[in-house]
Amino acid sequence: MINPISNSNQAPIGIFDSGVGGLSIAKCISQHLPNEQLIYIADTKFAPYGDKSTTIIQQRVNYLADRLINLNCKALVIACNTATVAAIDQLREQVSIPIIGVEPAIKPAAKLSKIKKIGILTTESTAKNSRFISLIQQHKQDTQIYIQPCPGLVELIEQNQLSSKKCETLLIKHLGELLNKEIDTLVLGCTHYPFLIDKIKAIVGKQIQIMETALPVTQQLKRQLEKHDLITTSQQLGTFCCYSSAFSTEQALLMSQLWQKNIDLQSL
Ligand code: DGL
Repeated sequence: MINPISNSNQAPIGIFDSGVGGLSIAKCISQHLPNEQLIYIADTKFAPYGDKSTTIIQQRVNYLADRLINLNCKALVIACNTATVAAIDQLREQVSIPIIGVEPAIKPAAKLSKIKKIGILTTESTAKNSRFISLIQQHKQDTQIYIQPCPGLVELIEQNQLSSKKCETLLIKHLGELLNKEIDTLVLGCTHYPFLIDKIKAIVGKQIQIMETALPVTQQLKRQLEKHDLITTSQQLGTFCCYSSAFSTEQALLMSQLWQKNIDLQSL
């Protein structure tokens, strides 16, 4: 792992995910920190991370962090729950710039739940991860927590099949498991899932509160930048550079659609 070239406050913030999901985090960052320059990497060649081993995810995270540090990033955001639980601790041991991860909003969900029954949608890898399991243990005393892995969902989002029958069927199946447990709060434990929020709401109904993590992650990033005196002083709108480890025009289109603005996607 290389060391940061610069920690100037004009340097960009590096954000990455296994694919397009982390855009749900990047979008919130660009709204709340509009003058920051952002560099996003979609590691599409290795998506989904949800069916990969911890070793492979750690290798990918180290590689992507290296690339972003080479691009002079002043801070890194792991915009992926799966990569955060699998690799953030070992990355922090190697890198001195601030690293912000994404963890499912279990604590606020447990607080908010009136009947103390919450459900979490995650990838398979997150559901099995020991860091994630110990996070669950911390809140298990007074709250029943149901974990629902959702194999296949990330793949459908990556293939731009968000509005397909297949996607709806899969959501009904996974959410049905949690509805059977009579939860009143649902945590989205994968950064891809916020792009399905309207469909999720239509299935679970208004009585279930849905917890996302984009805003708390953005607030944590802001706190870290302030703490290290790294907030940009620029008054101009920041740029957004986007790379993919498996560039395709279809992906560029999908990312522009999710970003709601044209994205000039480049090959990593
Ligand atoms: N968006 C990611 C997450 O938050 C990764 C999903 C995947 O690649 O399986 O977990």
